[in-house]
Amino acid sequence: MLVSGKEILEKAHKEGYAVGAFNINNMEMLQAIFEAANEVSSPIIVEASEGAIKYAGADMLYSMVKTMSERYPHIPVALHLDHGTSVESCVKAIRAGFTSVMIDASHDPFEENLAKTKKVVEIAHAVGVGVEAELGRLMGIEDNIEVSERDAVLVNVDEAEEFVKRTGVDYLAPAIGTSHGAFKFKGEPKLDFERLQAVKRVTDIPLVLHGASSIPEEVRKAFEATGGDLKGSKGVPFDFLVEAVKGGINKVNTDTDLRIAFMAEVRRVANEDPTQFDLRKFFKPAMQSVKELIKKRMEVLGSAGKI
Ligand code: G3H
Ligand code: 13P
Ligand code: ZN
Repeated sequence: MLVSGKEILEKAHKEGYAVGAFNINNMEMLQAIFEAANEVSSPIIVEASEGAIKYAGADMLYSMVKTMSERYPHIPVALHLDHGTSVESCVKAIRAGFTSVMIDASHDPFEENLAKTKKVVEIAHAVGVGVEAELGRLMGIEDNIEVSERDAVLVNVDEAEEFVKRTGVDYLAPAIGTSHGAFKFKGEPKLDFERLQAVKRVTDIPLVLHGASSIPEEVRKAFEATGGDLKGSKGVPFDFLVEAVKGGINKVNTDTDLRIAFMAEVRRVANEDPTQFDLRKFFKPAMQSVKELIKKRMEVLGSAGKI
């Protein structure tokens, strides 16, 4: 059933697990997400970036999610706008039927981020839609980073407390050292778990981890076996995800892992049979691979078995 992101995340916050928020651009990814959720009985958040909306259309994305939610009525699902860059973008998504929106004004000065978030909260709450905001910059942290530099980039705990009180935002993404894409850390993976716990203590709301892909070894190998190049790639290890959930993370955003798993299979089929042009022969195994990857993440995050 299509429900508000707030409903899904408040339950996760109360019970101490995280729900995977998986990015989609097309029908195949969406089917893989629902099939995984069905097989391990997990709630889900399906998210679409502004780029995804430009590619497929908000109406198309909404219709596909609605159709899948009717096919699997027992699965609680929220449709979320990922990294909305303006109040207008959030309003458009709400109008299209999204049940959760992110206003990402984290690059703006604190007061501007706060004002935009407050505005989106007013609008979204009037129609029962949940709101996410972000504080700090998504950047990998290095071992030898100066404390002052770390403070400039990562979430500030006092600001997080003030931000949540003054905006009434439903869930918050605090920057703790992750970054988007396949190249998250130059050296050993490192996240600021102490800062995360402190943010959870002062805000006591669901928290969100962006840039959470793990680039599992077998997925990277499968991609590289087809001639793909992911040299130097590094993701967030599974034990870090477990620790992040213990520290208060309740929504874990994943896009890169799905893209790599999907494309590794497309590349494999293309390499194995250069005469093949039936798109289903590429997409079927690609969906299967994405589904298995998502099921594993649902187990790691603790959302498996929660419906
Ligand atoms: O946060 C970024 C997501 O991976 C979406 O990426 O803007 O390329 O759709 P995109
Ligand atoms: P990854 O690039 O680590 O998959 O992060 C996705 C994300 O944060 C979407 O908002
Ligand atoms: Zn993100």
